[in-house]
Amino acid sequence: MAKMGTSSRVAAAIVVVLGLVSSLAVVCNGGKTSSFVRKVEKTVDMPLDSDVFKVPPGYNAPQQVHITQGDQLGKAVIVSWVTVEEPGSNTVLYWSAYSKKQKSEGKVTTYKFYNYTSGYIHHTTIRNLKFNTKYYYVVGIGHTERQFWFITPPEVGPDVPYTFGLIGDLGQSFDSNKTLTHYELNPQKGQAVLFVGDLSYADNYPNHDNVRWDTWGRFTERSVAYQPWIWTAGNHEIDFAPEIGETKPFKPYTHRYHVPYKASGSTAPFWYSIKRASAYIIVLSSYSAYGKYTPQYKWLEQELPKVNRSETPWLIVLMHSPWYNSYTTHYMEGETMRVMYEPLFVKYKVDVVFAGHVHAYERSERISNVAYNIVNGICIPVKDQSAPVYITIGDGGNLEGLATNMTEPQPAYSAYREASFGHATFDIKNRTHAYYGWHRNQDGYAVTADSMWFFNRYHHPVDDSTSAQ
Ligand SMILES: [Fe+2]
Repeated sequence: MAKMGTSSRVAAAIVVVLGLVSSLAVVCNGGKTSSFVRKVEKTVDMPLDSDVFKVPPGYNAPQQVHITQGDQLGKAVIVSWVTVEEPGSNTVLYWSAYSKKQKSEGKVTTYKFYNYTSGYIHHTTIRNLKFNTKYYYVVGIGHTERQFWFITPPEVGPDVPYTFGLIGDLGQSFDSNKTLTHYELNPQKGQAVLFVGDLSYADNYPNHDNVRWDTWGRFTERSVAYQPWIWTAGNHEIDFAPEIGETKPFKPYTHRYHVPYKASGSTAPFWYSIKRASAYIIVLSSYSAYGKYTPQYKWLEQELPKVNRSETPWLIVLMHSPWYNSYTTHYMEGETMRVMYEPLFVKYKVDVVFAGHVHAYERSERISNVAYNIVNGICIPVKDQSAPVYITIGDGGNLEGLATNMTEPQPAYSAYREASFGHATFDIKNRTHAYYGWHRNQDGYAVTADSMWFFNRYHHPVDDSTSAQ
């Protein structure tokens, strides 16, 4: 071993220390990894005889009632429900304080999945509704009638305030029930839910026991019968099970949950868009082909230039598998889609991307990673004021439990991460400002464990970073 003088040893040590400090500055100046420690307990599904799964009384009573937006503008609603004894009526009777009773007729469908046969699934679209109006509606006509209500959104416009709830990967465990209760009791009062995929988790049961699709429908009815949930397909919606002869992907999901995809020129129910108040919401499918020339790619390419930010300032994208995820679970699963679509998101200045899949919470800085190509090796995400904030909200509480393992150190782009169950709200104030808050289930209903003021990328593209720099 060669000998080194004292001064050169000191110099070498300084070089090493400086090197360490500078490399730490590159990879290690991440945001906050929450110190909140959730009590570790097993996440288990609520038993079949739980009160939240109760079948409504009465002959052929409609159950699993749910609504979603039925057109591009918010003047239509798709009402869906299931009857068990017999098909019964497809009619929805509806009225407001200012209109007489009207009827709309829909369709009924059933499906089989291995040894399971579904109930009679009804979908009826009611159209030409007035904006910002409370409507009452009745289903089950001729047998057991059940009445619900919803409020249509305000007319689309740039400064229309509107509050979206955000829930993902909900499932039907005791924790799922807490998440839904926290959403319902959040004083921020979400008016519609943006649901980022993975609904019932029925596929975790033997033969994908579709009875658990029915229980999920009954569990969520208390919210989704009264306000629309905007659906995104997750991997638990695929239900691909060739071992039991079920080879048609998304069969239960597409029979049970309809979306207004044709209204936005989409050719499949897995990618589509809606306008609601001051937001333009694009739903993408992580589990449909998205490469160049595919239907989804072609649709998105034509869709983004259509977004008129003077009409709908807030451009929101929903997908299931996150592009930026610093947990070890599902690490880099969204990478191929990111490579395909991220340049478009930056070009069209998407405000925020919500994803699920990872059963935890994470919020990114505004960053992009579009400089990379196969030869230049530039692969570190950089701050980019034209880029969206990426939020993973797959923390609904399903039976698979929390994702607790994180990549270390926290990457610079990750602003906040925490392995707790919860939900969020995105509260649009006007064309420039929106208040975003994440609520963990352990806190009081009004408490936000993570929050951010969003500045609109088109109308107020000022740095809204929450980091100290
Ligand atoms: Fe998932």
